[in-house]
Amino acid sequence: MRHLISPLDFSVEELNNLLDLASDIEHNPEKYSQICKGKKLATLFYEPSTRTRLSFEAAMLNLGGSVLGFSSADSSSAAKGESVADTIRIVSCYADIAAIRHPKEGAPLVAATKSGIPVINAGDGGHQHPTQTLTDLMTIRSLKGRLDNLTIGLCGDLKFGRTVHSLIKALVRYTGIKFVLISPKELTVPDYIKQDVLDENNIEYKEVRQLDDVMPELDILYMTRVQKERFFNEEEYIRLKDSYILTQDKMKLAREDMLVLHPLPRVNEISVEVDDDPRAAYFKQVQYGVYVRMALILTLLELEVK
Ligand code: CP
Repeated sequence: MRHLISPLDFSVEELNNLLDLASDIEHNPEKYSQICKGKKLATLFYEPSTRTRLSFEAAMLNLGGSVLGFSSADSSSAAKGESVADTIRIVSCYADIAAIRHPKEGAPLVAATKSGIPVINAGDGGHQHPTQTLTDLMTIRSLKGRLDNLTIGLCGDLKFGRTVHSLIKALVRYTGIKFVLISPKELTVPDYIKQDVLDENNIEYKEVRQLDDVMPELDILYMTRVQKERFFNEEEYIRLKDSYILTQDKMKLAREDMLVLHPLPRVNEISVEVDDDPRAAYFKQVQYGVYVRMALILTLLELEVK
């Protein structure tokens, strides 16, 4: 039985197969519309979510399956003190596969060790968000036509932004990848990622404070929200929250084929005027998130169209 806890749980070849499957689902949805008939997906969300939970549920429904679950810790027996390990043992009796979001780093991994069904990490604290990464990779591959030879600007909260951590880990396995890390000094990429992932793989990167200066270099600009829920000090959050705001004026500095991605939700970091720019890909990214989660469910349940 396989789980998806980290973006590295799939080899590059497996990842490419999964993205091919997602692309086939995008173009031939009817082929897959009954393949999960009789199967159930449990969504166990101990933290708020719009996209991840609903796209998982849409994915399973699109495959002909059913969904059950909870959308906050308060509405589950976690409020009475039940552990994640016990919860997944229970849910294994009710469902065929589970997606778990939890504020504690490592909680989905703990669940996987006790689970009788495949477990998907739907975001654990400030650690990782592998299904967002699958979404990001599908978006880049579909709209740019490649996952190699790209200069990628990651901008905003690079300390707590789990989508950034997972994306870096996934992309270093492709050739010709360069990163431009744009953040305030308080919100830089954690040292363990710089040392164990970027340096270890001899990846070219630079850390900068100004977005404008680097805009012309980028193939992809990946904007992120400052993660209010991970701050201990509200004053610090208020001081940093508007460090970067992407406006149409700033977009004038970018290449004509640069793409803007954002895992969403957006707060202030992209002006709504940018939404109409053809380079704004963040709403298309949401749609790719459904196809890629459909492909992931099929892969982990080992289901194929006959
Ligand atoms: N991108 C993302 O994880 O969004 P949600 O928090 O709404 O699931």
